[in-house]
Formats: sequence, C-alpha cells, structure tokens
Amino acid sequence: MTAAQELERTIQALITGGKGILAADETVPTVTKRLNALQIESTADSRRTYREMFFATPGAGEFISGAILYDETIRQNSSSGTPLVEVLMKQGIIPGIKVDIGAKALAGSPEETVTEGLDGLRGRLKEYYGLGARFAKWRAVIRITEQFPSSTCINVNAHALGRYAALCQEAGLVPIVEPEVLMDGGHTIERCAEVTGCVLHAVFNALYDQQIVLEQMLLKPNMIISGMSCPKQASVSEVATATVRCLRRYVPAAVPGIVFLSGGQSDVLATRHLNAINTLDTPRPWVVSFSYGRALQDPALLAWHGKTEQFKAGQQAFYHRAKCNGAAALGRYSEALEGTAAQ
Ligand code: 13P
Repeated sequence: MTAAQELERTIQALITGGKGILAADETVPTVTKRLNALQIESTADSRRTYREMFFATPGAGEFISGAILYDETIRQNSSSGTPLVEVLMKQGIIPGIKVDIGAKALAGSPEETVTEGLDGLRGRLKEYYGLGARFAKWRAVIRITEQFPSSTCINVNAHALGRYAALCQEAGLVPIVEPEVLMDGGHTIERCAEVTGCVLHAVFNALYDQQIVLEQMLLKPNMIISGMSCPKQASVSEVATATVRCLRRYVPAAVPGIVFLSGGQSDVLATRHLNAINTLDTPRPWVVSFSYGRALQDPALLAWHGKTEQFKAGQQAFYHRAKCNGAAALGRYSEALEGTAAQ
C-alpha cells in the first residue's frame, strides 16, 4: 500500500457509515478543570480511568471511528495493563493525536493567539506513528470582537495549519485541520459567517501554497452560529442553512470530509445542528460528521462523577450520545431517539 493509499484508507474509515470522532485530547490543565468542577481529583490514574471509560464502552465502535488522544493518554495502559491504544483498536477505533502545544499570545496583538508546536514536529509525528496514531489534530483559535480578528492573526494561524498539515501527510498521518472561530461573545450569526469565511479562505490558501493534498485531509470547523451571549439566537434551521452556505463557498469539493467541533454548544443542540445540516436540501460534496469533545463527554462525565460504581452509567451515557450523533451524521436523528437512553 502506498503512503497516499494509507492516508485515504484512514480517512474512509474515519468518515464512512455515519461514524464520527471522539475528541478526548484535552491537555492536563483542561481535563483537570473539568474533573475538579465535579470535585473529582485529577491524577494520572483518574485521568486514565476517565478516558478508559469512553474507550472501553461496549459497542462504541458502532458510532465512533476515531479518538483523538493527548500525549499523556497515548502512552497510558488501561487498568488491566493493556495499552489504551490497543483498547481502542480492539473496538475498531483509530487512535489519533493532538500535536499542537496550545494557543499562545500573539506578539504584536497579545489579546489574540497563535497556535504553537511546529518546532520538532517532524520527530514527534514519527514517534506518534510508532505509538499507533494514524491521524493528528492541530487547533487554531480565532476570537470575534468588534476589532478582532486581525488579518495578522488569521494569516499566521493559517500558515501554521499549512506547515502542520504538510508534515502530517509526509509522516503518514491524516491531518485534521481545525480553525476554530469561538462562539464566545455577543456577535450575530452573520458576523460568525463573515469571520469564518475569511478564516477558511486564508486556511485553504495556505494549504494550497504548501501543496497539501486536499483529498488526504479532514477539516474540523465550527458551525455558523450566534455568539453565546448574542440576544438573538439563530434557530436550528438557520444554523444549518448558514453553515452549509459558508462551507460550500470556502471548502473545496476535493476535501473528503468535514467533522465539526461542538465548541461549547449543549450536547443535544450539537446533535440537532448536525442532523439539520445533513437533512438540508442543498448539495454537499463532502461527508459531514462530528469530532465532538464536550458534546460527547459531558453527559458521561456527569453520570460517572468519578465513582467506580457509576462507571457503567457513564459508559451508557456516552453510548447514547454517540448513537444520537451517529444518527445525525446520516441525517436520521429524531428527538424520539433521545428517549431511548439506557437507564
Ligand atoms: P469541543 O467539541 O468540546 O469543542 O472539542 C472539540 C475539540 O477537539 C476542540 O479542539
């Protein structure tokens, strides 16, 4: 199998059949914040148990095709001593890895950020491939205010996404290109569409300049939604229409798949939005699925609450959300499905 065939095979496995990706790649400080909010202590062991809960959920592979891990997790073993990477592979879930090292203050415009992690990336990708990863993620963060984002912020982040994607393709890892326009703020859905359009335009320019093979990557964008504190919240069908319009304008048809981030939407709303996008009467040249973090994890985290006796309840909550999102990825979700959660 050639390197190109391997990349394309990985992509097909990630996006086919109504499956999507679990983003479980929070850094130690971020996952610590989430655990501490429920008075769960964050240790290497408790973080391992938390991740194992998802990865070992019976049947998770019916709806989850890939899981994005953090550096700590890709090196951890399950409670019974099996590498977590193997736990995933036994379920038919492809391991992926977050490879950026975070959004840092942008020199010259310190209220904005540029995502770092390019130094030494070639060597790290090689190591992660050896550890079993077959795809990678890099997240650029763009904030909307009246004056931001600056064109500097958009361009440096786009350039870094191009550098990262080129190195991934060289290393045999599918790059998931994630330019996230944040939903924080009081902006309208129209402003979100305008900024996201500019960002996607700059990102695909950079990918083109750096000779990325568009058929061998996935895009992980935000949906086009109203800012979280905008008084006028767009409806589900408005979000679907605006999202597909924006993506059709800026994402080349050669890109095989779009896997959305949830970005702070509630779990059920993120599912409803994905389903509405997939049932819209507008041609879409790409497969459209999910790569959710919070929208897949939050109900399971609440059900588990760090308690051994509630581990299975956490897995049931995760299975249910994965099933609902799997249905939404095929445009077959309905509110009735929410009632089918195991008790
Ligand atoms: P959310 O779905 O919680 O936004 O996480 C997805 C992700 O991977 C962000 O980088």
